[in-house]
Amino acid sequence: MPPALHMPARFVSPGSHPAGAALIGVFDSGVGGLSVLRALQRALPDAAWLYVADCAHAPYGERSTAYVVERSTRIAQHLFEQGCSGLVVACNTATAIAIDTLRERWPQHPVVGVEPGLKPAVVATRNGRIGVLATPATLASTRYRSLIAAQPARFHIVNRPCPDLAGLIEQGESAEAALSHAIASHCTVLRQEEVDTVVLGCTHYAFVRQAIAAQMGNDVHIVDTADAVAQQAVRRFVGLPVHPEAHGSTLVPTQADSQTLRRMAGAWLTDGHEVKKPVVL
Ligand code: DGL
Repeated sequence: MPPALHMPARFVSPGSHPAGAALIGVFDSGVGGLSVLRALQRALPDAAWLYVADCAHAPYGERSTAYVVERSTRIAQHLFEQGCSGLVVACNTATAIAIDTLRERWPQHPVVGVEPGLKPAVVATRNGRIGVLATPATLASTRYRSLIAAQPARFHIVNRPCPDLAGLIEQGESAEAALSHAIASHCTVLRQEEVDTVVLGCTHYAFVRQAIAAQMGNDVHIVDTADAVAQQAVRRFVGLPVHPEAHGSTLVPTQADSQTLRRMAGAWLTDGHEVKKPVVL
């Protein structure tokens, strides 16, 4: 019989290990991964988190494969050098393009990624028509094509590339009008396709979930994968070593202007966090 899934002692009772915590690295091209970090904080309340927001190089969605691999590798290297023992790629684009490279390069560390939630979508849909909002790079990736090929052929999947959304979300309040306009235009296409389920295939889109839901209407089911990723992290990070000085959540931007990161983290993260000075990576 396989051993029952269990939580390691240090994850069971918050505060039971005052001297440090398992330190886990998280990164995204910018603020999008905060939506995943929130779910991670809830699922693993005793872990410590070091989050790199690569705002200086966002968005990734229209970058080349080589560029995304290079950025992901550089950031992962930094996180492991800081003492992280596990990694969450809180970005669909970086997962689609770079997670295999990261796993090959650091086989000793568990690496969890995020992918568009097609599996929950095929369960949720009633009419078999599913819309996927994601970056052009994610939708064009071999990994995503394999994910599509693994779904039963009777489902009609409408892939809608959104080259604009992540960048507009990164710009914050100054881009709100353009963001609303862009969301309306993507949702118009999905409504015309009569999808009854919409997959948020980019971690940034969790922040505009309500706007997407309002455009699509009450009957449309929205799929976000943050909680599923957090559950996968619980499984994969069992037994990670404790870092003696790690605690809480630390956010590190790669560009000087971290206004959007501060604002989004303040609004989105329920646990405390600290925003550090930018690093050049
Ligand atoms: N948040 C990312 C994703 O999940 C990246 C978006 C971007 O930088 O274009 O795909």
